[in-house]
Amino acid sequence: MSERSSRSAPVVAIVGATGAVGVELIRCLEQRRFPLSELRLLASARSAGKTLPFAGRQLPVRELKEDSFQGVDIALFSAGGGTSKRFAPLAVKAGATVVDNSSAFRMDPQVPLVVPEINAQAARTHHGIIANPNCCAIISITPLWPIHQVNRIRRLQMATYQAASGAGAAAMEELRESTRAYLEGRPYQQKVLPHPYAFNTFSHNTAVDPATGYNDEETKVINETRKIFADPDIRVSATCVRVPVLRAHSMAITIECERPISAAEVRELLRRAPGVQLVDDVERNYFPMPQDASGHDPILVGRIRSDISDPSGHSVSLYVAGDQLLKGAALNAVQIAEML
Ligand code: A2P
Repeated sequence: MSERSSRSAPVVAIVGATGAVGVELIRCLEQRRFPLSELRLLASARSAGKTLPFAGRQLPVRELKEDSFQGVDIALFSAGGGTSKRFAPLAVKAGATVVDNSSAFRMDPQVPLVVPEINAQAARTHHGIIANPNCCAIISITPLWPIHQVNRIRRLQMATYQAASGAGAAAMEELRESTRAYLEGRPYQQKVLPHPYAFNTFSHNTAVDPATGYNDEETKVINETRKIFADPDIRVSATCVRVPVLRAHSMAITIECERPISAAEVRELLRRAPGVQLVDDVERNYFPMPQDASGHDPILVGRIRSDISDPSGHSVSLYVAGDQLLKGAALNAVQIAEML
């Protein structure tokens, strides 16, 4: 934090304040009583003049400009990679520390990629920018960290069930609108996502690398897991899929550890894990669901069982659900800001 803010509570800016994550950033700052002396809301010219509620007041939204960061101590960016690439360096130059929710700087070796429950200490090495990881990476690996620490995970495979919120507020609206149209028997032309979303699932809407067959989202999960765990040798594979859910992602995960591990051990480790809540009621067949995870800070974990396809006893399968807008984005960013 700059010298000026050591004297008083920091000035905080949110870039992308009107977006799906931006609105949750405002709410997280308010709910967690983040100590700040000013909250500056920034978005595109389209939103200039709007107001958004914070702590019982309506705050104006201003257009993001090159001089928007004068006097700002902490800038939370969630307005896409292009905006981060252009404006985050300007914010740093003006004396702010940036917590960036885009993928623009995540794999930059100079930029720490932080999940506070996993690698809080990495944040201390920043040079002005700290990256907030991909939502699927955060939600899948936060519950895996306590396991990895006691019995290294050497291989991790996951399939994701990803909500509309990851593609922004417009995609959430597209899910609502297309569902309404479907139920009323009206035709609907999607504008945000590449395929019909109501009552459908499709492979994640990022480009597929023809060389590997993996799409961008899957590649992010793979690379970011290695960076956050500081374990370049962990073998990771992912299949990322969009499902017609509004705001919480779920994942089916199988891990293979270096030594044998039982479902009971995993359950015990996760019972005490920070940021995680066990939902593992076999009798009632009640396990993590996006509906329960939505608007909920902890990541729900359950369906913990030995993977019977690995008779060596090294593998366990589990299922998680976490709010993409909260722990997958805004909450994690605000937790990082709290460490500053
Ligand atoms: P705006 O609402 O004015 O378009 P989402 O991820 O939900 O789509 O939200 C994206 C956020 O990023 C919105 O707040 C949006 O503002 C903002 N944004 C998008 N492009 C720019 C830009 N070029 N400059 C500033 N803010 C931007």
